[in-house]
Amino acid sequence: MNAPVSWYERRVLPYLLDFACGLSPFTRRRQAVVPFAQGRVLEIGVGTGLNLPHYKRDRVQVLVGIDPAEQMHPFARRRAVRAQLPLELRTLAAERLPFDAQSFDTVVCTYTLCSVTSPAAVLAEIRRVMRPQGKLLFAEHGLAPDPAVVKWQRAIEPTWAKLVGNCHLTRDVPKLLGEAGFRVSMQTGYITRPKALAFNLWGEATAA
Ligand SMILES: C[S@@+](CC[C@H](N)C(=O)[O-])C[C@H]1O[C@@H](n2cnc3c(N)ncnc32)[C@H](O)[C@@H]1O
Repeated sequence: MNAPVSWYERRVLPYLLDFACGLSPFTRRRQAVVPFAQGRVLEIGVGTGLNLPHYKRDRVQVLVGIDPAEQMHPFARRRAVRAQLPLELRTLAAERLPFDAQSFDTVVCTYTLCSVTSPAAVLAEIRRVMRPQGKLLFAEHGLAPDPAVVKWQRAIEPTWAKLVGNCHLTRDVPKLLGEAGFRVSMQTGYITRPKALAFNLWGEATAA
């Protein structure tokens, strides 16, 4: 059974995430990865559907979007209609996916590894459901390379995670991808300010 959803999670968080994750520095990272999705596509943590306008409709055969937070789904549904995408929306957490092995050509995961309960379990599942030549397209934020920034990230993280839907600031995305058996081609950088919230990594990962 799902945990009860609080008033804050239902009435505030979807709007807050939609606004913050919709800011232009993040939109530019979506534009750098999402248009490359093709074939059978799985989007992990589809949220309010901010990636949906960036898919190339004629490259996508099937688009399954999963997110355990049902309160985000109406936003995503509206964006799918506007983008004329055949989105199949499922209420699921990505740590255990009910999909066959090697059943997706592309997995898209943006600004979600920060929020899942177990990034290692999620990446293992992504690896399992991806075809051998498939791609994981990602844009995430995470552990900064500068110790002074990391100090701030560690200080803010406990409160931030409570307010922003379990969003962690210090997840080491390249390390997690490597440990899950991915080979990664990516760009990194502080895409906005404050730096503690802004170190981003975006690109593609394939099975090593
Ligand atoms: C910061 S939002 C990002 C949403 C969207 N991916 C985007 O790029 O705008 C994080 C999303 O991850 C979802 N999420 C949290 N835990 C998850 C899990 N275990 N599996 C899949 N999605 C999860 C949340 O419900 C939320 O929609």
